[in-house]
Amino acid sequence: MSGLSVAPGGPLRGRLRVPGDKSISHRALMLGAMATGQSSVRGLLRGADVHSTLACVRALGAEVHLESDGTVRVDGCAGRLAEPHDVLDCGNSGTTMRLLSGLLAGQPILSVLTGDASLRRRPMGRIVQPLRALGAQIDGRHRASRAPLAIRGGSLRDAELTLELASAQVKSALLFAALSAGSALELHVRPSRDHSECMLEAMGARLARTATRDGWERLDLGSGSTLQAAEIHVPGDISSAAFLLVAAALVPGSDLVIEDVGLNPSRTGVLDVLRRMGARLEFGERDRVAGEEVGTVRVVSSALEGTEIGGGEIPRLIDELPVLALAAALAHGETVVRDAAELRHKESDRIATTVGLLRSLGVEAEPRPDGFVVQGSAGAPLQGSTLSATDDHRLAMTGAVAGLVSTGGVHVPEPGCIDVSFPGFSDTLETLAGRGC
Ligand code: S3P
Repeated sequence: MSGLSVAPGGPLRGRLRVPGDKSISHRALMLGAMATGQSSVRGLLRGADVHSTLACVRALGAEVHLESDGTVRVDGCAGRLAEPHDVLDCGNSGTTMRLLSGLLAGQPILSVLTGDASLRRRPMGRIVQPLRALGAQIDGRHRASRAPLAIRGGSLRDAELTLELASAQVKSALLFAALSAGSALELHVRPSRDHSECMLEAMGARLARTATRDGWERLDLGSGSTLQAAEIHVPGDISSAAFLLVAAALVPGSDLVIEDVGLNPSRTGVLDVLRRMGARLEFGERDRVAGEEVGTVRVVSSALEGTEIGGGEIPRLIDELPVLALAAALAHGETVVRDAAELRHKESDRIATTVGLLRSLGVEAEPRPDGFVVQGSAGAPLQGSTLSATDDHRLAMTGAVAGLVSTGGVHVPEPGCIDVSFPGFSDTLETLAGRGC
């Protein structure tokens, strides 16, 4: 049978590094392309989404060299991108489309961005409206709320904006637009992952960050900010590590160590929740590289308890909610996820697809407008299942992990989408479970 089949088993044991952080990889290529000089990037994710960004920055005039030792060198365009000869294809990657739209809005060139069917369904009004408020000329399908997007870039005005949505993609699109146009920007935002801010600072942009009222933040990007090439280290992606951490927490007898993984506090909500559920987590050596925390995490299997997840915690774990729902499915008691309506706008409607996946495994789960409720099995194995075809990488990986804790295994009919963020995932899982191929 084609596809990926994961049989029950384990335990998961070993020590590994997961592929590079997707968010940081996109930013390394885009900001490397904008900088003056040659940046070198170690640990870049070689997944499909980052490949989309790589192809786009090449089409915009940046030369990108892939060295045999895995280092990627980016020759920056010193703030001036070239007009692309053709439509820019962002594939499945929302981060590529939204962040690049920001950069392109500030360049005196015409560009058109498109993507696959899933990306063309995702909301783009969230970047188009605030970019227009900076003076950008940007249009798109469906009254400028869906891709393809057409951008006639140029100079932008100095501006002060408040963003209600806690979205790193929207925040980054605006910072990148102001950087690209050389304009000043004062942005008031709710906290979300801050990889753009860390990298802009490390590359010499004039960016000031201030914590303000009720946990909001103010970001001030000075006019005429320019970037200098840098040596960028991309740590392992905590969002990819999360699948293995949950797998090891759930499969009895597991003991897993993940090294060189990103521990930026704006991303570690998954670790806080797993701890709260009773997972045995330990941290090894920690380091800070160019503003990013990096370290080692060990997880040992344990019984989990249900929990409540919501509020300001959501942006710190938004991508991990499908696999946390699986942890909840094996826990004692009920888990409630609220304030997470943003899940409906990811690679799939992840409230519907997560609940659908759990139900196919025999779990009692209910969707809510802004989240879901899961009744845990108190450690009893889940029913085996064949997933309905999905083009959402995080759902496919959640299903695969579920196979380890099921009675009859789980079959993922179309696992190709996993390459978006975690190339080599199935081999890694099988090797850790002692069934290496
Ligand atoms: C990302 C931000 C998040 C996240 C996405 C990657 C980024 O999206 O879900 O996978 O790299 O900035 P939002 O900022 O839209 O919530």
